[in-house]
Amino acid sequence: MKLVALSSSIVAGFAALMLVGPPSARADNAAQAPIGGIEESVDIDLLLSRMTLDEKIGQLVQRMGGRSKSLNSRLGPDELDRVRRGEVGSYLHVAGAEPLRELQRVAVEESRLGIPLLFSMDVVHGYRTIFPVPLAMAASWDPDAARQHARIAAREASAAGLHWTFAPMVDVARDPRWGRIVEGAGEDPYLGSRMAAAQVHGFQGDSLAAPDTIMAGTKHFGAYGAAEGGRDYAGADLGERALQETYLPPFHAAVEAGTASFMTAFNALNGVPTTGNEALLRTMLREDWGWQGLLLSDWRAVEELQAHGVAESRQDAAALAMRAGVDMDMVSDIYADDLRAAIEADPALLPLLDGAVRRILTVKRDMGLFADPYAYHDAGREASVMLSGSHRQAARKVAQQSIVLLQNDADVLPLARNAGRIALIGALADDALSQLGSWRAQGQEGDVVTLRAALEAAHADVIYTTGVDTRSDDTSGIVAAVTAAEAADVIVVALGEDYDWSGEARSRSSLELPGRQSELFEALAATGKPLVVVLMGGRPLAIPEIAEKADAVLMTWLLGIEAGPAIVSTLFGENNPGGKLPASFPRTTGQVPVNYDHLPSGRPADPDLSRDTARYMDQPITPLYAFGHGKSYTDFAYGPLRLDNARMPADGGSATVSLDVTNAGDRAGDEVVQLYVRDPVASVSRPVMQLRGFQRVSLAPGETRRVSFTLRADQFALWSAGGDWIVEPGVIEIMVGSASDDIRTRGEVVIEGSAPGSIAPAAIATTTRAQ
Ligand code: BGC
Repeated sequence: MKLVALSSSIVAGFAALMLVGPPSARADNAAQAPIGGIEESVDIDLLLSRMTLDEKIGQLVQRMGGRSKSLNSRLGPDELDRVRRGEVGSYLHVAGAEPLRELQRVAVEESRLGIPLLFSMDVVHGYRTIFPVPLAMAASWDPDAARQHARIAAREASAAGLHWTFAPMVDVARDPRWGRIVEGAGEDPYLGSRMAAAQVHGFQGDSLAAPDTIMAGTKHFGAYGAAEGGRDYAGADLGERALQETYLPPFHAAVEAGTASFMTAFNALNGVPTTGNEALLRTMLREDWGWQGLLLSDWRAVEELQAHGVAESRQDAAALAMRAGVDMDMVSDIYADDLRAAIEADPALLPLLDGAVRRILTVKRDMGLFADPYAYHDAGREASVMLSGSHRQAARKVAQQSIVLLQNDADVLPLARNAGRIALIGALADDALSQLGSWRAQGQEGDVVTLRAALEAAHADVIYTTGVDTRSDDTSGIVAAVTAAEAADVIVVALGEDYDWSGEARSRSSLELPGRQSELFEALAATGKPLVVVLMGGRPLAIPEIAEKADAVLMTWLLGIEAGPAIVSTLFGENNPGGKLPASFPRTTGQVPVNYDHLPSGRPADPDLSRDTARYMDQPITPLYAFGHGKSYTDFAYGPLRLDNARMPADGGSATVSLDVTNAGDRAGDEVVQLYVRDPVASVSRPVMQLRGFQRVSLAPGETRRVSFTLRADQFALWSAGGDWIVEPGVIEIMVGSASDDIRTRGEVVIEGSAPGSIAPAAIATTTRAQ
């Protein structure tokens, strides 16, 4: 058994609570051991019964072991004393197999009960091998790619002593002004649900106890993505239907996928700060959804209940969060310092405390930490696993899959190998750090291959010049850029946002190109040379002038360490871009939100401007690039839609939709076949379309593939005016196409009867199987 293999000096108190294990050197525990239970498993009831109030509270405390960019920096002697006293349950912003082994040793050998610690970090899109930012990965429309990324991230992070990541971030985001749109899967609940589930599976693998898996910390539970005005931390005012149908499905998908933990959102939902929201957390998440994992607050969010104006004191804040169901307090030390007084004032909190401790101990047990607290601290594994060739290769593949070809007039792309002289312009083309995004875990700038480095390696005749920087008003480089452009056969200009324009507290009031990049672009466009824009950044941008004047535009986001090779292989056509937008691009900032699944209006937009219909006076009402949009170097033809059942019972019915998709061009390529539905007449107004299935297929030139989707009746459930889920009878329109604004084939199915849709958030989220 594993414990025997541990150092014999271990005086792990918990060993006394296990069925088998070395005798504890601690008299107080040794007298009572061993107790029944599963072999190599701790008896949590017994452990709980032996814990003092302070030891229980200690388990609820997550402390910072450092900061995200200076890991372990706070792990001094005072901190170790806290661990010895049993005052800490978990650390964040720590890493390293060896340093964390020592910290774990102190917890296991030198605290009274020897309960192991949980080590955590934001491993959001890779640990050392940095993949594209999450919004970019969502543009791959390939959940398996997202799963593989998470698997690799878990392999690396677990080798560095980590048990827990604060990912995936599954907040639906429909306002690109919100900087955190970069961290999630964009505007759609269905795509978001698929990506959420895939990443939970990737991080957690088949078993949390395997030493190369880590616990997912799905975040930020609530409606953080609906922050008003796109201002980070602002409240969300949402109707119950929008909450249930749009914002919660990815969280429910994470529950279905087995997420072992959630983090609460910072913001308030309809006036109730999420971290103190009993109805949302304890009643809905725990009781209605039946989820029993570990619920963590966000950074100081328990303390911030005071700033929100719902707690008068720290003690109040502690009581509110505990009542709401928050098990662990990230960093604010409110539980550490003030929960005892809150419990003394209100003994009804005591059983809630026990519940929280039980959930934390259960997670530690499920991770195998009682059986072997050092399973994650193998320095040999840490050295061998990081940034391996296969991890880098996977990062490149996902980066290639994430690129979206927004437009390609006159087929300027792909460039011929003998394209002649290429003028490569733009600070972002040579900015390695930016490709790592705002969360970069242990990603290193030196690991990144930039666009400049990759293009210079791939093509003999490249002249590079910066033009302008994304952050300065200095336009003096434009002259040199124009000179370079005029001497070239084709211009490739990298424009957009650097890594620090998106992310937490990185909201923008304008979605235009920052700095003086528009001037640079206009000057280059005026040369009349073929102009390829490589757009980078962490959010949809409003770029009507680029759409009008560039010959080709590739959205390349922030693609991670293999950004350069991925972009260059796409420029030259070795990679045929197949990504699709996970969020609509507006024409101007004032147009947001411009999500595709809006409700119909009583006066739908009509190009006949003599009539008063939904419109803007100054521009078209449609987005610049729609949700699901993305072109290819080849063309795809869609055959007619076939349904095996024209009718399905509301209760348990299903139908299979199939169609043939053909690569009608002469290049291999990927198409994302998208299935949308609409309920044209229901008890409440339904969105004009809703994604309910997709499949990314790779097709050789001339190849035809039958693509099938199984649709279940409960995927059409709606949140009724009465406040529950229901599948209603009637016609459902089915639309299949290449983008939300490019539907190629249609059909319909009739739902017979009605049925309660009690599992509807799951139904929306559940994979529509595509064979
Ligand atoms: C963020 C979380 C993050 C946490 C720990 C907070 O500021 O909102 O997403 O996981 O910090 O780094």
